[in-house]
Amino acid sequence: MKIFKTQKQFTNYLKTLNNLELKVGLVPTMGALHQGHISLINQSKDICDITVASIFVNPTQFNNPEDLIKYPKSIEQDITMLEKAGCDILFNPETEEVYADDNETWNYNIGELDSLLEGEFRQGHYLGVTQIVYKLLSWAKPNFAFFGQKDYQQYLVIKKMVNDFNLDVDIIACPIIREADGLAMSSRNMRLNADEHQKALIINKSLKFLKANFDKLKLSELMKEAKTFFNDISGVELEYLKICKQNSLQEITKDKDKSNAIALIACYVGQTRLIDNMMLS
Ligand code: PAF
Repeated sequence: MKIFKTQKQFTNYLKTLNNLELKVGLVPTMGALHQGHISLINQSKDICDITVASIFVNPTQFNNPEDLIKYPKSIEQDITMLEKAGCDILFNPETEEVYADDNETWNYNIGELDSLLEGEFRQGHYLGVTQIVYKLLSWAKPNFAFFGQKDYQQYLVIKKMVNDFNLDVDIIACPIIREADGLAMSSRNMRLNADEHQKALIINKSLKFLKANFDKLKLSELMKEAKTFFNDISGVELEYLKICKQNSLQEITKDKDKSNAIALIACYVGQTRLIDNMMLS
């Protein structure tokens, strides 16, 4: 696997591949890789000639400085995992390489998706995400870019950005990969101790409950019951549990609007913030 630390070398090398008309797939990550990331690499390898991963813990998407400091890092292990998965290229720049200009501004108007759900609890998060993803897409010029469905709102935001800027890339959402016990894989899971991990299983259990009872119960009853699951567990604090339209993430409040629904959850388990979701219809 070729590893690039500088944007210039990375862009120049990718240009030669674009000129050869090879199909390039980009998997942007913040490292601390797990099998969820590897599934994105596999997906890219299935449909592209060249698979590129990026590892960059992007400071502009962290609204909480503490969260940025605590973000798990395991670059040696990440490189081994990527090599084993057959990734062709890794872009792993330092912050100064990506944000060379301290006064850089990024003013993209994300629209409603920016203030809903994650947007409400992590203000400015998607502005930072679009800022870095726009740079990565401009530098790599991939044919495809792969994102996990676990960050479903992020996927919608990136699709919107690509559409707004007319970028020539297909954005692919890949299925959530779960541990055997149902917990959605996340780099943040590394921060959970055994007790917290056990408590975090309530997230997937609630989503499964919502799916199993979506057609049976009224929305109001369904939501009330699912939320009580969380009240019973000490150390787990629900931020939101909502059923929304899959395309807009507008909350569904009426039973007659129950088509194309997705359930989304964010909660703290101890000090660790976790998100998950499940398509209901
Ligand atoms: O999903 C992530 O890991 C990050 O938000 C991304 C897309 C790599 C941008 O920093």
